[in-house]
Amino acid sequence: MNRMLRERHGAARTVDEITGSRRLRRMRKAGWSRRLVRENHLTVDDLIWPIFVIDGENRREEIEAMPGVWRLSPDLAAREVEKAARLGVPAIATFPNVDLSLRDESGSHILAADNIINKATRAIKQAVPEIGIITDVALDPFTSHGHDGILRDGVIVNDETVAQIAEAAVLQAQAGADIIAPSDMMDGRVGAIREALDAAGHHDVAIMSYATKFASAFYGPYREAIGTGGLLKGDKKTYYVDPANSHEAVREAEQDLLEGADMLMVKPGLPYLDIIQRLKDEFSVPTFAYQVSGEYSMIRAAAANGWIDGEKAMMESLLAFKRAGCDGILTYFAPEAAALLSAGA
Ligand code: PBG
Repeated sequence: MNRMLRERHGAARTVDEITGSRRLRRMRKAGWSRRLVRENHLTVDDLIWPIFVIDGENRREEIEAMPGVWRLSPDLAAREVEKAARLGVPAIATFPNVDLSLRDESGSHILAADNIINKATRAIKQAVPEIGIITDVALDPFTSHGHDGILRDGVIVNDETVAQIAEAAVLQAQAGADIIAPSDMMDGRVGAIREALDAAGHHDVAIMSYATKFASAFYGPYREAIGTGGLLKGDKKTYYVDPANSHEAVREAEQDLLEGADMLMVKPGLPYLDIIQRLKDEFSVPTFAYQVSGEYSMIRAAAANGWIDGEKAMMESLLAFKRAGCDGILTYFAPEAAALLSAGA
């Protein structure tokens, strides 16, 4: 830029002299001019709504750490999803709170064709066929220890876990899932899931890879939501990415794309905007962010205390993802943001 200005205005002049007449406030002076030069936009098409599901009928449970978010039985979930679809939300993602009696060391209940994830998918698909359904194949809602994989002698065993989640992915596709989103971070899972889906004839079911899922403190409220908080022994540092690493994040994403991922996701969102931008620049594939539970709860809590304007902070945080290069955002704010957007916010 400096070189361009110097060439145009002659080498003798300094950059300071040349830019002396520049006033960036000119284009900020009115609503019309701000709209005219606005570089990024958030639309309802960018929103994916993560929801929590529980067994039963007509059940709605509050999640203390996530005000405004509930665990819903499939019938109520279908009703809420219908409302979101009417607001234009293109897709949802389901996460189950599994009855404790069904959790075990290996998370075997994920292989039950009628488990709560698959029940919810069927109910939602039937009620709202026009919305996209994303399901997770991680084992953590199903294990008695809250880890995303099979735990043996203190180690999360990779390949056995991958075989199990690939099988679970086929059951989820059979139930009607449109996109499988593995959040477990086992090596080789995307390739194994692709192979299993294709072998079962589910060529059209896509894979959204949690390509870079960081070992983050921002998942706290989610663990209350699915009931793993009290169960989790140790941490997930042997399989999630170290928050200090960004080159490794690129290698993870590359690996998942080579194995057949259709879309990438970065999780958490706001603390990792640099990763989103790097991945989008490097691979030019559909790239998503997960604004996780802790990010949601921080905004809600500060707003509840009157410390920030919750609505404005919500919309600003979502726009930031677009600026970083996201094609879409998984956010618990989806219905609220969609309502604001449709009202012309
Ligand atoms: C685990 C999983 C996590 C989230 C979704 N699936 C992280 C974890 O519990 O370690 C977090 C989502 C959120 O915080 O909103 N497979």
